[in-house]
Amino acid sequence: MILAIETSCDDTCAAVVGDGGEVHSNAIASQGLLHERYGGVVPEIASRHHLELIDAIVADALEGAGTTLDAIDRVAVTRGPGLIGALLVGLSSAKAIAAPRQLPLIPVDHLHGHVVASTLAPDPIEPPYLCLVASGGHTFVARVDEPSSYAILGQTLDDAAGEAFDKGARILGLGYPGGPIVDRLARDGDPAAFDFPRSSPDTDGGLDFSFSGLKTSLLYRVRDLGEAEARRRQADLAASYQAAIVDSLTARLGQAIDREGVRNVALGGGVAANSALRAAAETLCDRRGARLWTPARELCTDNAAMIAAAARFSPQVAYPGYLALDAAARLG
Ligand code: KG4
Ligand code: ZN
Repeated sequence: MILAIETSCDDTCAAVVGDGGEVHSNAIASQGLLHERYGGVVPEIASRHHLELIDAIVADALEGAGTTLDAIDRVAVTRGPGLIGALLVGLSSAKAIAAPRQLPLIPVDHLHGHVVASTLAPDPIEPPYLCLVASGGHTFVARVDEPSSYAILGQTLDDAAGEAFDKGARILGLGYPGGPIVDRLARDGDPAAFDFPRSSPDTDGGLDFSFSGLKTSLLYRVRDLGEAEARRRQADLAASYQAAIVDSLTARLGQAIDREGVRNVALGGGVAANSALRAAAETLCDRRGARLWTPARELCTDNAAMIAAAARFSPQVAYPGYLALDAAARLG
């Protein structure tokens, strides 16, 4: 069994996953509310809370799996990318658990985790597959031929999709993180009420994304409407803004499916928890005779089960080789 730890941003996570990808537990302590009043994640606050929470979350994951450290044979941990102080808490904890027991350690690329979240039991996706990863820090379409790696076919040139949700929510005077709030509010709004720009896929087949123009367009629209009217039409604005993000994402995904001729498709990352994106991707795949894997919402947003998923396909480092291993804010 693998014990996995994830602390790259503001969620303190630990999970116990079997070698066959069975998720025995997936414990998450979200710090979202702590950062809400700052309108975004404050790195120093995130690290300090990881430090306070990590032992309890690991204990929670073990208890939830009905097991103890004695049954764990490998420890996996996110090495990067992410906030360096936050990553260091997870990595140091993982070393502190693995080293006294002389267990191997598996350093994991956080994005690899999002890409392979759908390979977990009970219904694992089989390569080759395409994966749209949309999170707070990253947005890309990847092709997976072997679950040990992924090739990025296109990625955002500016903001990530989750960032577009969070910044849009801020412009609309909603809380943080904005994605789930916009998702909820949009259910009462008309997605066709406002016409926001969609950057369309390059005609030369490029699969890159861009979201910064959309955000600016929302800012101008809210300013033109005036405060009172913008508040009155909040649900319509949220629904229309969300529709533009979802359209941009699904346009690239559709183009990637057509270009690559791959019929297994997955979503990953926090934005994959979005109900409109999940529905639109389903329709898109249906039309193309492709099958879509949408991981449970708690496997889309940051979690340690996906880190264990990636660890199953990543090289392990034997004791004591990992003691000098460093976290990396950027991998590459
Ligand atoms: O993958 P994730 O938990 O962390 C990163 O690796 O960044 O993604 C967090 C992002 C945030 O921007 C959040 O607003 C967005 O995912 N998000 C959503 C939803 N749930 C989370 N965006 C849209 N709709 C949602 N339901
Ligand atoms: Zn993430």
